[in-house]
Amino acid sequence: MNKTVLVSGGTGFIGSHTAVELINAGYKVIIIDNLSNSEKNIVDGIERITGTKVIFEQIDTCDIKALRGVFDRYDFDSVIHFAAFKAVGESVSEPLKYYRNNLISFMNILELMKEYTRHNIVFSSSATVYGDADVLPVTEQTPRKPATSPYGNTKQMCEDILRDCCAAYPVTHGIALRYFNPIGAHPTAILGELPRGVPNNLVPFITQTAAGIRKELSIFGNDYDTPDGTCLRDYIDIVDLARAHVAALNRMTDGKMTEKYEIYNIGTGKPLSVKELVERFEAVNNVPVPHKYAPRREGDVPSVYADPTLANKVLGWKAERDIDDTLRAAWKWQQSLS
Ligand code: WQD
Repeated sequence: MNKTVLVSGGTGFIGSHTAVELINAGYKVIIIDNLSNSEKNIVDGIERITGTKVIFEQIDTCDIKALRGVFDRYDFDSVIHFAAFKAVGESVSEPLKYYRNNLISFMNILELMKEYTRHNIVFSSSATVYGDADVLPVTEQTPRKPATSPYGNTKQMCEDILRDCCAAYPVTHGIALRYFNPIGAHPTAILGELPRGVPNNLVPFITQTAAGIRKELSIFGNDYDTPDGTCLRDYIDIVDLARAHVAALNRMTDGKMTEKYEIYNIGTGKPLSVKELVERFEAVNNVPVPHKYAPRREGDVPSVYADPTLANKVLGWKAERDIDDTLRAAWKWQQSLS
């Protein structure tokens, strides 16, 4: 069995943690990344944690010529595709940048997988495809809602492209993992999230506020129809999320897929409000996070959380890390940066 895997976007937040878990599970990892939103030294971090040398090439997956070289040089049968832009707000102001990057990179990978007879692909999808779901928790059967941002639309479109390629090409087997809200850092504090500029996501904003880099956190909206008025989300530990990719890949490489294209929710199934998360962070880390309530942020859904039963049963994967440990890891990582 070929246990070599190409990881596109492998120096990003989710990609780097996944590379570590893949290596720990006995896979050989080839990372490609254009370093547009990450640093080369993240490869050193992966090597330090695993004690294993990693192949890294600085390549843009939109550059099909360069990507072809990777397919020529390396013998892998599986790909995990993370490489994508992910800032929701930026995607609204620069839609073409998002459509061009996120769609072309994915189509290039699928094209070359077909040409070079490489079988398995895991795609990074998102709970964003559910939008403001009518029924919670969401299962994989919950209808997708029209995307509210070009970023979200690229996730839906890539899912559809993957579905159609799996149907059309005998060689192509795909799994889409719909992530809920990935947070935390590696417990060693060697890897974590490295947002450039002012963070859009909640936990990096919390940790930077606790560290004094930001004056105050704004909690967007306290008048939602939720128990405490703030939004509910399903926060998934980054190491748990990384392990979900290993479980998906194991299913593919063991030849256990029953459909050519499968979809799994990757979340805890336990909703937390923004207010609860902030208070929990303060309590477990014994550090204040100055915060105030601010108007709702455009595009936010009041509540979304997973029914992860399918992933639990079929992938044999479940979220295991305690939220308090996750929030401790996030703080330890932030402190390691100063
Ligand atoms: C979580 C909650 C905010 C910042 C997005 C994408 C998703 C995925 C993760 C991208 C919300 C509130 C946030 C702040 C706040 N992909 N918040 N103050 O919006 O659930 O999901 O990021 O990489 O596809 O849609 O995540 O972390 O931005 O927000 O009050 O300064 O925290 O309103 O309720 P979101 P988030």
